[in-house]
Amino acid sequence: EQGEASSLRTPIVAVLGHVDHGKTSLLDQIRGSAVSEGEAGAITQHIGSTAVPLDVISGIAGDLVDPDDFDLPGLLFIDTPGHHSFSTLRSRGGALADIAILVVDVNDGFQPQTHEAVDILKRTSTPFVVAANKIDTVPGWNPEEGRPSKLAIEAQSDRVQSDLNENLYEIIGQLSDEDFSADMYWRVQNFQSNIGVVPVSAETGEGIPDLLTVLMGLSQRYMKEEMAIDVDGPAAGTVLEVTDTQGFGATIDAVIYDGTIREDDQIVVGGQAGPIVTDVRALLQPRPLSEIRSDDEFEKVDEVVAAQGVKVAAPDLDDAMAGAPVRVVRDRPIEEVVAEVKAE
Ligand code: GTP
Ligand code: MG
Repeated sequence: EQGEASSLRTPIVAVLGHVDHGKTSLLDQIRGSAVSEGEAGAITQHIGSTAVPLDVISGIAGDLVDPDDFDLPGLLFIDTPGHHSFSTLRSRGGALADIAILVVDVNDGFQPQTHEAVDILKRTSTPFVVAANKIDTVPGWNPEEGRPSKLAIEAQSDRVQSDLNENLYEIIGQLSDEDFSADMYWRVQNFQSNIGVVPVSAETGEGIPDLLTVLMGLSQRYMKEEMAIDVDGPAAGTVLEVTDTQGFGATIDAVIYDGTIREDDQIVVGGQAGPIVTDVRALLQPRPLSEIRSDDEFEKVDEVVAAQGVKVAAPDLDDAMAGAPVRVVRDRPIEEVVAEVKAE
């Protein structure tokens, strides 16, 4: 079955940007829930992951995304915090990502953590699009829920259009200062050599159809070239967090970016004092459209196929490290896998 369309794995999309520019709100708008409202303070303290299946994406994008045109199972979004103290979480998110959304408040433009995010994306050569967020806050904006942004902009008064354009061209200029050639997304032909700027509102959902369409196009092309994987192979992943889970003790929240992890697998996990060799006791997976952080939304599953967030329960995980690799051993020599984990 390798080489078949369905063997393309779910692309991982990191959402990066300065504090309060609307990363979590954008994901909320996409998944139709309000995780950010339940968060302590305004800061996202942890990386979460959200799987959005292709049919949901095409439901939101309407005519723009015909499911028959895409081989991808959907998109896996990783939220990251914008607060300056969480730079490790941002690098981890950036390193895991196949593609990224750089969220920029259209009124504020580039801010310190926007520059930091761009540096991460440059360093990891991650293709990205810019979501120029909060277009609904331009004075005089006339909103219409969920409308594609080109239509939304054309429906505004000349005054509103020119105010918005001024801000958008500011952002395009800031991207150019970072050595990226950028333009409004509807003028971009090749999203890997040019950065597309998509005007959006996480509040009104305007521009979300366009954003998802650009992301699907970008990942489809990118995944075709680089990411047709053997999803049956032993899994590789990254630990996002070490957490205590009731009934299981220390567990790891991981993102599996390659292969499959099964309930009866032996795994090797990077730990404070070197690689930990242990056996999976349970795999707890967030349901599609739920958030990895809310424990009650987990269900026990037999296996998890890349890319997906999963909570792994196993003995001896107290010592596991956030950011460390997770590898399934399966039929490989254990020393080989331990060496691989040590080397990362
Ligand atoms: P951190 O996780 O702390 O880095 O912030 P964030 O980027 O996730 O920002 P968040 O989504 O929490 O949004 C910050 C504030 O901006 C909230 O009060 C949101 O309601 C508001 N906001 C986000 N997007 C929009 C938008 O498109 N329009 C308007 N009017 N408000 C928005
Ligand atoms: Mg947030």
